[in-house]
Amino acid sequence: MSDVLPPVLEIVGRIPLQGEVRISGAKNSALVILTGTLLCGEDCHIRNVPRLMDVESMMEILTFFGLKIQRQGDTLDVDARHITQSSAPYELVSKLRASFFAIGPLLARLGVARVPLPGGCAIGARPVDLHVRGLREMGAHVHIEHGVVHAVVPGSSRRLKGAKIYLDFPSVGATETLMMAATLAEGDTTIENAAQEPEVVDLANFCRAMGAKIRGAGTNTIQIVGVPRLHAVDWSIVPDRIEAGTFLVAGAITQSEISIFPVVPDHLTAVVAKLEEMGHRIVQDGLNRLRIVPTDCPQAVDIETLPFPGFPTDMQAQFLALMTLAEGNSVVTETVFENRMRHVAELKRMGANIRLRGNNALISGVPLLSGAPVMSSDLRASAALVLAGLAAEGKTLVQGLHHLDRGYDRLDRKLQGLGAQIRRLETPEELAHIPQLALKEI
Ligand code: EPZ
Repeated sequence: MSDVLPPVLEIVGRIPLQGEVRISGAKNSALVILTGTLLCGEDCHIRNVPRLMDVESMMEILTFFGLKIQRQGDTLDVDARHITQSSAPYELVSKLRASFFAIGPLLARLGVARVPLPGGCAIGARPVDLHVRGLREMGAHVHIEHGVVHAVVPGSSRRLKGAKIYLDFPSVGATETLMMAATLAEGDTTIENAAQEPEVVDLANFCRAMGAKIRGAGTNTIQIVGVPRLHAVDWSIVPDRIEAGTFLVAGAITQSEISIFPVVPDHLTAVVAKLEEMGHRIVQDGLNRLRIVPTDCPQAVDIETLPFPGFPTDMQAQFLALMTLAEGNSVVTETVFENRMRHVAELKRMGANIRLRGNNALISGVPLLSGAPVMSSDLRASAALVLAGLAAEGKTLVQGLHHLDRGYDRLDRKLQGLGAQIRRLETPEELAHIPQLALKEI
């Protein structure tokens, strides 16, 4: 047991923010596009890659497969000529669920892949049955043994076959895995009830830039005509709509006027609509810049998470924190993941008035939250606790930062840039007086 104490974020609340913040490349696009480099037998030059623990883990896994990766600032050069491994070790996959998506490009490129089941995580069971079923429909023989998915394409060509695939749920990961697999398959593939998230579109455009034939990404029907090989590419990752949404909520919860850029406004339609329904004004200053002009009397609104273009589940926790301080009652309903309300108990420690009924949080707005030591349970929950800390009276100490650092590129530094009183306590001296919390089961 390491006796190095994990860092803690210390936030002094009720400090107005001001200025503008730069939005990094999208985590959920970067991760899957990095697995997409496995499809390419040449060089991939990937720009605007965020600095995240998850990206480091993905680079570790791809290097394990034999890829050569060099980083220069926020650019990665990936040489995927030689894949020397078709199986991924559990200790790497268990660190990063998205690495399971590599099964698609590995199978498409090599005709064989062995990838451990990623298992569940804090927010839900997260099975991969839709990925496996789709690969079987493309002709792969897939069996699961000792927690590992073994997949092989029979026949001399070892090429997957095009297929008509219907997804029971518009799963982002399953759509991405199967779309990548289909790019090198023999014949045509159609994915019905496909996910329409902007990250799916960014992946499709990345594959098309390598020579793939894909139509309909961003709609619920994607068509792919397989090609024998893909070529070198120079690609820039889209801005992170969830990081952008998190900063808009930072402006709203502290009643501060701030700007965010670069963003793709169309990726934030549902988030902007809910902020405007509360009474905030969102102004578009130019093509890729948004500014929040907060109301001083934010109204409570109901939120129900849905696949894109519905309200994103990855913004649920942040909005739930916002609703704790809004005028009136609201209901926040999580429909995508079965266990994504673990931030509620910690927000209640800060004085929020919330009752949980299954996946519905019934919230009565309070005039003020009070700072407290709180513990993160997952990535977006940690962001919600930071936001609540920015609005709370006194000091908040956020623990479990390994969750935050997985998916936010220097969030505390960026908030400091907007004038927040937030600092990362790391040294034994700084941490000496911090009570080490344990996460409670709700
Ligand atoms: C992606 O996860 C994102 N992760 C998640 O972001 C995001 O919350 C999610 O999409 C939904 O938008 C990445 O892109 C790396 P799904 P993914 O497959 O692909 C069920 C964050 O905070 N399902 O769309 O794993 C599943 O259990 C993370 O950045 C099956 O039943 O999500 C869930 O209930 C968290 N069988 C629902 O579908 C399957 O085979 C949605 O999952 C696949 C999924």
